Amino acid sequence: MNNEGFIAEPYRIKSVEPIKLIPREEREKKIKEAHYNIFNLKAEDVYIDLLTDSGTSAMSSKQWGALMMGDESYAGARSWFNFTKAVQDIMGFEYVVPTHQGRPAESFLFRTLMKKGDIIPFNMPFDSTGAQVLDKGGTFVECVKDIAYQPLEEAPFKGDIDLEKLEKVIKKEGKERIPFVMMTITNNTGGGQPVSMKNIREVRKLTQKYGISLYIDAARCAENAYFIQQREPGYKEKTVAEIVKEQFSYVDGCTMSAKKDPLVNMGGFIGLHQKDLYLKILPHIILNEGFVTYGGMSGRDLEALAQGLREMVEDAYIASRVHQVQYLGDRLYELGIPMVRPVGGHAVFVDAKGFLPHIPLDQYPSESLAVAIYIEAGVRGIGLGKLAFGEESQMELLRLAIPRRVYTDRHMDVVVEGFKKIIKQKDKVRGIKIVSAPEVLKHFLCQLDLI
Ligand code: F0G
Repeated sequence: MNNEGFIAEPYRIKSVEPIKLIPREEREKKIKEAHYNIFNLKAEDVYIDLLTDSGTSAMSSKQWGALMMGDESYAGARSWFNFTKAVQDIMGFEYVVPTHQGRPAESFLFRTLMKKGDIIPFNMPFDSTGAQVLDKGGTFVECVKDIAYQPLEEAPFKGDIDLEKLEKVIKKEGKERIPFVMMTITNNTGGGQPVSMKNIREVRKLTQKYGISLYIDAARCAENAYFIQQREPGYKEKTVAEIVKEQFSYVDGCTMSAKKDPLVNMGGFIGLHQKDLYLKILPHIILNEGFVTYGGMSGRDLEALAQGLREMVEDAYIASRVHQVQYLGDRLYELGIPMVRPVGGHAVFVDAKGFLPHIPLDQYPSESLAVAIYIEAGVRGIGLGKLAFGEESQMELLRLAIPRRVYTDRHMDVVVEGFKKIIKQKDKVRGIKIVSAPEVLKHFLCQLDLI
C-alpha cells in the first residue's frame, strides 16, 4: 500500500502472452460445438479465463531465473534442500513430503492416517478432497458454522468451524473413529471464505482434549492470513509472513496444492511437524510418485516453488492480489448481482439462482450463466451447483476464479461489461439440460444443450 492508502500491483510486466476475443458469432458456434460444457472449450477460444486460480499463476522473473538453477539429481538434489528450507522458513514444518499436486498429498496422508469406516470432520472439504476420504473407505462431515450456507450474509470469518457441531460429531461417532480433523483455509467450497486464528486455536484445544490430530488444507493459506491481518483483532501490526507461520504452529501438519498461493503451475507437498508420521508416508511416495527428495516434481519445479513460497507472503503482493478479486466482486455487486458476501480471497461466487430466478433449479442456473457470460464476453467461469455437487446441493454458484498476477483490473472491467449486457436481457438466458453424462464427475465430462 502506498501513502495514499491506494493499492496497486507491486510489480511491472516483463513478458506478455497475447489473448484475443473471437467474434460473438464464433463464440456461439464454439460453445455449441463444446456441447455447452465450458470444460470442452479450447482455451484459445476464451478471452479471459476464470475457470480456476489453480496452476494458472504468472511466475516472477526470480522464479523463471530459479528454473535454471534446478538440480536434477535423482536423490539429495540441491533444489530439494532449497525447497525444504523454504517450507521450514515460511510454514515452520520440519518434515516435507513432495508430491506432484494437492490430490496425491491428500491421498498419501489420508491412507496413512485412516482406516475403513472412519469419519473425518472438516469445516468443508474441497470436492476432490472429500472424494479422497470416500476413496479410503471413510466419510466426511461438514462442521462449518451455519452462516457459511447463507451466501448473502456478511461475516468476517465464514470458514470457521462450529465448535459445538464438531464436539457433537466427536461424541456421537467416538474419537476412535476420528483420526483427524481438517480445516480448509480459505474455504474454497464455501466461497473462498477465511478461517480466523481464534478458530484454529479453539479447534486445536478441542481436538487435543480428545487426542485427535488436526491438519490444514493449505492451498490458500496466504490469502487466509491476509484476511486475518485485515479483520481479526490483534493482527493489524503482524506481517502476513508471521501470520502464515502462526497458523501452522497449532496443527500437526498440512496438505498443500502449490498450484494456488505458492505461485507455481504444478506442485504440492505434505508438511509435518513429526518425524514418525513422515517416515510412515515415505514408502507410499516411492511407490507412487518417485524418490522422496523430489516426489512428482523436477529439480527446477522445486526451485520455482521455493521462490514462490517466499513471494506468496509478501504483504504488498498479497494485498494487491486479494484486492483485485474484491475489485471485481464489488463492481458486480454494485450492479445488483447477488453473490457470496463478503467477496472471497481467490474468486467471486455469483449466486446464479438469485440472479436468474426464471431458470428452475433442474435447468442448472449456474451452468446457464456460465454459457451466457462466455457468449457475451468470452469469459470462462465454472458452474458449481446441482450438476457439480449432486441433487442435494443447495447453492447454484458461478465461480469466477482469478489467476494470480495474470490479468489487469481492465480485464476485470471486461467481465463487468459482459454482466451488464446479460442484465439488459436477463430473461433471455436459457436453462440447460443434460444430453449425456457419466455416473461420476458429471460436470467435467457431460454434454449439455440449451432449453
Ligand atoms: N484443496 C483445495 C482447497 C483446492 O481448492 C484444491 C484444488 C485441492 C485441494 C486439490 O489440489 O488440484 O493440486 O490436486 N482446487 C482447484 C480449483 C482445482 O479449481 O479450485 P490439486
